Amino acid sequence: MSIHREPPVTAVLTGAGLRGREAYGEYALKNPGKLKFLAVADPDFERRRAFQLDHNIADNLAFESWETLFSPGNGRLADAAFICTQDNLHYHPALAALNSGYHLVLEKPVSPNLEECRAIAALAEKEHRKIQVCHVLRFTAFWRKIKELVDSGRIGRVIHYDHSENVSYWHFGHSYVRGNYRNEASSSPVILAKSCHDLDLMYWVIGAKPLSVQSMGDLTHYRPENAPAGAPERCTDGCPEAETCPWYAPRTYLTGEPLLRIGLHAPSRTTRFLAHFALNHRRALSLLSHFNKGLRSILNWNRFPATVITTDLSPAGKMKALKEGPYGKCIFKAVNDVLDHQITTYRFPGGVTGTLTLHGVSELEGREIRIFGTKGTIRGYFRYNGEQITVTDFRYSKTNIVHRAGLSMGGHGGGDFGLMDSFVKVMRGEINPHEAGTDIDNALEAHYMAFAAEAARTAQREMQLAD
Ligand SMILES: NC(=O)c1ccc[n+]([C@@H]2O[C@H](COP(=O)([O-])OP(=O)(O)OC[C@H]3O[C@@H](n4cnc5c(N)ncnc54)[C@H](O)[C@@H]3O)[C@@H](O)[C@H]2O)c1
Repeated sequence: MSIHREPPVTAVLTGAGLRGREAYGEYALKNPGKLKFLAVADPDFERRRAFQLDHNIADNLAFESWETLFSPGNGRLADAAFICTQDNLHYHPALAALNSGYHLVLEKPVSPNLEECRAIAALAEKEHRKIQVCHVLRFTAFWRKIKELVDSGRIGRVIHYDHSENVSYWHFGHSYVRGNYRNEASSSPVILAKSCHDLDLMYWVIGAKPLSVQSMGDLTHYRPENAPAGAPERCTDGCPEAETCPWYAPRTYLTGEPLLRIGLHAPSRTTRFLAHFALNHRRALSLLSHFNKGLRSILNWNRFPATVITTDLSPAGKMKALKEGPYGKCIFKAVNDVLDHQITTYRFPGGVTGTLTLHGVSELEGREIRIFGTKGTIRGYFRYNGEQITVTDFRYSKTNIVHRAGLSMGGHGGGDFGLMDSFVKVMRGEINPHEAGTDIDNALEAHYMAFAAEAARTAQREMQLAD
């Protein structure tokens, strides 16, 4: 008996950076029967070349920019185009790809501009193209369980949904103070850049579009006036607070200390002492690392966020990036303008309310949720170091753990690969795009919520969301 195997869905990639290479490129390498990249575009030679080599892409299919990849002369080279460029560089490549006949996998946010979001959706509809927006969290076991619990009626009717997006001090410092998302003009307001995921989850779990919104927030901490006395422009210029500052850049990028919770960031005195000793006796550490793989990370941290600052991941290469690029700047002098905390409240039909707390001064990275129903409460946390959901029923005052999972350092708790599995099924016609939940129409609801929140915050009043 012969087994019929479907050929992999084929794709071209524009933007071979963190998402393009490490999330979706990785999926294709691990699932060659499902997804195959045939071409790539990126002006950064090192990144383009790395992707080309990973996926065995011919030289004539490696382009310096999306403009050449989607030029009419090239026609349509594959089934779908992945748009994984930075936030303010989605619109033009997305339109060009749609016009060239591709379906899209489009990174979030769709665009920092509302009219551009609408224009992409309108062109896709006109040309009958499918768009999967990368709201990857919908595909995690954690959020699927939350949705299932709410829909089952286990806590009765939802009255209030409370969602916190706790961005850790080191991650916020990396992305929203020193990095790509530090300025609204070059990326997006933080509620769109970071929390379009959170708003998408709120809309999905409650199962309705909000009617109105109020919001307040500020940039309070990561400002020049909060710099310690004598702090230079860069951590590498001999900062007097190097031993005590949690944002001291070499610790984040050279040894990964805040992520590993070692050195200054170790929770106990003994671990702090041992880590300090080890870091100051690198030869001994190097010897011990032959017996313990984990120790190698301390010698040279070569995962996120180090992978963002340079392609030369040697200690010297990273130090050069810190001395010359934005990631070595003093955290208080990075010339950033996005808010570091924002509280937003939505009113939904039927008197239901939802709150989003977004902030960049958390000790732990992760989301926390409480859903208050007429019969009970759901509580959950979704962090890099573990996940848990409990349900408490008013009648028995009993709290049951209904979901628990351990450490998930990458891949958004399974969401990145879950989104890709869904995309492959959509492309093969096994599920319809709307059923997948992350089609452009669904995705834009979260964008409308973010744009409205910003309008309400700046106007300092409750704003209505139009249909
Ligand atoms: N879905 C998620 O959970 C998630 C997580 C992080 C980031 N993102 C989003 O993904 C997108 C990409 O983020 P990233 O961290 O991978 O960014 P990145 O900066 O690592 O990668 C972007 C790449 O685009 C390339 N590029 C620039 N100009 C180009 C051009 N003209 N043609 C082709 N490529 C070009 C850059 O050289 C770079 O390699 C952003 O919109 C970001 O907000 C989504």
